Amino acid sequence: MAKETVLVLGANGQIGTELVEALRMEYGNDFVVASDIRKPMEIHKGPFEIMDVMDENRLMEVVKEYKVTQIYHLAAMLSATAEQKIKMGWKLNMDGLLNVLNVAVECKVTKVFWPSSIAVFGPSTPKLNTPQTCYMDPSTVYGISKLAGEHWCNYYFNKYGLDVRSIRYPGLIGYKSVPGGGTTDYAVYIFHEALARGSYDCFLEADTMLPMMYMEDAIRATIELMEAPANRIKTRTSYNLAGMSFTPGELAIEIRKIMPEFKITYHPDIRQEYADSWPKSIDDSVARKEWGWQPRFDTARLVEEMMNHCKDLV
Ligand code: SER
Repeated sequence: MAKETVLVLGANGQIGTELVEALRMEYGNDFVVASDIRKPMEIHKGPFEIMDVMDENRLMEVVKEYKVTQIYHLAAMLSATAEQKIKMGWKLNMDGLLNVLNVAVECKVTKVFWPSSIAVFGPSTPKLNTPQTCYMDPSTVYGISKLAGEHWCNYYFNKYGLDVRSIRYPGLIGYKSVPGGGTTDYAVYIFHEALARGSYDCFLEADTMLPMMYMEDAIRATIELMEAPANRIKTRTSYNLAGMSFTPGELAIEIRKIMPEFKITYHPDIRQEYADSWPKSIDDSVARKEWGWQPRFDTARLVEEMMNHCKDLV
């Protein structure tokens, strides 16, 4: 097998933190270059470059210097933050992606991964078992940028033959990193607050059902997709991917099975609007059929894992 050198952009983020660790196990510490706009909180066990994805020249330099063969481009602004900073959100999410796609073509990078999101769907999309292909009318800047990004990926695949692969992540929940500025973030913070205080004040209503996934499944999906033979990847926009679906009320019931005294209160804010425009559950049959996707974690197992691991953090 040819030696791969992988570059991860946005390595300090919620996904990046865990993905760098997993990729380093797979390809070796020295062959995974982590990069972010900020210095890492913890010392990385391998190469690290401070970089702004908006700086195409610097990106090109790093790709050439390390002879990068794969790029995972994770640097983006999430739903709630992008609504506060519309132009910056659009610019970072769009120009960042275009820089990566251009540099990948220019430097003959063999594969690119870019995350899309359930936020590409909107109020007119079927909410239950949302199909791979359907009407999409995203109502957030973040969702608009992700939907446009999906089509840019498809464009670069068709026009330049760039092997770009993507997943529409549901809300991601893990204990090794925290999200920032998203709508599904409540499902991470609830565990930290439950263990620190025994209670949580939720910014979504009790009955807001959203698609979610345990980080271990998400990381495995990402690497499985990237390692699948190219001829199995027929979808070059982005794949629907499902793990589980639950509401804050249901999550609280699961937490109470482990911590009976846990209390939850609800004070929905603007993020309720974004959540209401997104699917409740996802049909991921295309990913299952094309590259064999299978989730392993359901809600009960996720809660058990999160309560166990977050205990060590408080
Ligand atoms: N987790 C993202 C958010 O809440 C959606 O992809 O913004």
